[in-house]
Amino acid sequence: MPTASFDFTGANVFVFGGTSGINLGIAHAFARAGARLAVASRNPGKVEAARAALSGDEEALGYALDVRDFDAVKAAIDDHAARRGTIDVLVSGAAGNFPAPATAISPNGFRSVMEIDAFGTFHVARAAYEAMTRPGGSIINISAPQAWIPMAAQLHVCAAKAGVDMITKTLAIEWGREGIRVNSVSPGPIEGTEGMERLAPTPEAKARSAKAVPLGRLGTVDDVADVCLFLASDAARYVSGVVLPADGGWTAGRGFGALG
Ligand code: NAP
Ligand code: COA
Repeated sequence: MPTASFDFTGANVFVFGGTSGINLGIAHAFARAGARLAVASRNPGKVEAARAALSGDEEALGYALDVRDFDAVKAAIDDHAARRGTIDVLVSGAAGNFPAPATAISPNGFRSVMEIDAFGTFHVARAAYEAMTRPGGSIINISAPQAWIPMAAQLHVCAAKAGVDMITKTLAIEWGREGIRVNSVSPGPIEGTEGMERLAPTPEAKARSAKAVPLGRLGTVDDVADVCLFLASDAARYVSGVVLPADGGWTAGRGFGALG
């Protein structure tokens, strides 16, 4: 149930990885709250579909790029700056995941996830620094419970998302004086998403995941999106450098059963 009660009229919001799943839901939540959207991901078809769906009175912007390529990320940010000006809210959510025990993760598999999640998050923030609204800009990195809870078959994601959260906290310290807030949002198991399909592909695994959530159900994309609206809003003006779970209490229960 969309509950966007925050007002982002005229705000420029750029969502990296914003063409499907949770990140697209975040983009839609900001659009419903009046923001002007830009999204980026690799697949040009997904980019165009998201761009069209997010367009209202004003056209949304879409960029087909790989966050592993710093120059491509910078070019998109520069184009956005020329068309829209500064970025009020920057969401970094591009990620890769596949379940595999450590012995089945090749060096290239490890590198791929590290480069998309950790390097990608750095690339996006680094490229957007000059363009951020200051004071008042907000950066939200999409993390995961793997950042602080070790999980079997998730070594690469654990390492990568731990990196994401340390990027969040370090940038919050370095950029705070300029009025830029930096936070992470850490979703729990979210229904109808690629991440959930990969980690809990069967109905039985999904039911086990839901049972492990203290609030007793899987999360929705809007459950996560609303937390992002709050974090980017003036209501969170004194919140920076935190990792905020949107997980129904799942990490408080240490996430047992989440891998199905
Ligand atoms: P998703 O739909 O696969 O979203 C990932 C997005 O990132 C897609 O738009 C994808 O589009 C883009 N992307 C992937 N690699 C990229 C790259 N190298 N460069 C640019 N864009 C790239 O998955 P999701 O499950 O909704 O996950 C969204 C975020 O939530 C991720 O950060 C994930 O770690 C986090 N999360 C999810 C869950 C969950 O239950 N689903 C739980 C905890 C955390 P393209 O394919 O077009 O590149
Ligand atoms: N088990 C073990 N290794 C795997 C694997 C799996 N299920 N899936 C991919 N890999 C390995 C590949 O074999 C390859 O290693 P190699 O060259 O040593 O064989 C390496 O990972 C890179 O795979 P490739 O398909 O070339 O990478 P990519 O850059 O095209 O894709 C991924 C990146 C692998 C992360 C891909 O799953 C992806 O694009 N994911 C985005 C969507 C997603 O994961 N959404 C959920 C977010 S929570």
